[in-house]
Amino acid sequence: MKILVTGGLGFIGSHTVVELVNAGYDPVIVDDLSNSNIKILDQLTKILGFTPVFHELNLCDETAVSKLVQDEPDIGGIIHFAASKAVGESVQNPLKYYYNNFYSLINLLRLYGHKPLNFVFSSSCTVYGQPDVLPVTEDAPVKAAESPYGNTKQIAEEILRDTIAAGSKFNVIALRYFNPVGAHESALIGELPNGVPQNLVPFITQTAIGKREKITVFGDTYNTPDGSCIRDYIHVVDLAKAHVAALKLMETADFKGYDVFNIGTGKGSSVLEVINAFEQATGVKLNYQIGPKRDGDVEQVWGDVTKSSEKLHWKAELDLNTMMASAWAWEQYIAANPL
Ligand code: UD1
Repeated sequence: MKILVTGGLGFIGSHTVVELVNAGYDPVIVDDLSNSNIKILDQLTKILGFTPVFHELNLCDETAVSKLVQDEPDIGGIIHFAASKAVGESVQNPLKYYYNNFYSLINLLRLYGHKPLNFVFSSSCTVYGQPDVLPVTEDAPVKAAESPYGNTKQIAEEILRDTIAAGSKFNVIALRYFNPVGAHESALIGELPNGVPQNLVPFITQTAIGKREKITVFGDTYNTPDGSCIRDYIHVVDLAKAHVAALKLMETADFKGYDVFNIGTGKGSSVLEVINAFEQATGVKLNYQIGPKRDGDVEQVWGDVTKSSEKLHWKAELDLNTMMASAWAWEQYIAANPL
């Protein structure tokens, strides 16, 4: 079955393309290359042994999406990753976020909406803000968003729920990701941040390889055991497999409509624990310092993954050491083989 993977050359998208092929699906990649690199297509070719179908287009362009629907009429599912995702940038430039993240979603829903399709949406644990109860379950209240980026995820979930309630032919699963890190075991694909990384693990690996002088831990006075923030880090390959599980669930006769799942490990790790795990897994000492808190950071969040394990029949398998070792192997690969 052909699966349209929007943002399929990005970090999570490229890993999902590999897992789709492993599961017997036929991925069709769409990407506008605004935050990805065309050479990832060559890297996918090395992993898969063939070049996946690729369409370069911006999903906000209605004419381009109409043409895509004509060119790719027999799509059985859509995994929609393509979106702007930098929290800080979204505060500076909210209209870019509202424009990109909504027009693309709405164009896909409208223009592919004439036939039944299984649709997986990339949502985020950011919709919970700082939860009152941990681990956080899917029925925890959605809190006022801290950023336009977070708001786009909340509103996109509402757009999808409303569309399904209005009798759309789609089935939809929204996956609320916790913190995706790590890289494919081949070290041929991984995270490729634009400029200075905003996220913890790419900053760690770039510091370890000498691209950055040191890493700053954003605060050590939080109300957590070691004072640094806690997140639920999940290996990107486990996360990619959750998308396959979501498609499989929607293909069963008893799934109808809309559902939402937490995709994490169910375990929280502090920033200092992540740094320690990196040093343990790689034998590389990190130059780090404690700095001030970062605006907008939640103190601690990790997911309850009971619903995903029971209904989605999916569970994360890879541990923090594997996340760190694979992220490091990828950083070393791109240092030696710049894309
Ligand atoms: C946030 C969102 C997530 C979103 C992501 C996009 C939440 C809970 N999560 O992730 O949904 O997809 O942004 O970027 O809202 N840190 C440092 N030093 C650094 C970088 C990070 O100490 O140089 C710390 C942060 O304070 C945080 C942790 O590392 O505690 C993880 O940060 P990051 O990787 O940026 O992800 P989130 O902010 O959790």
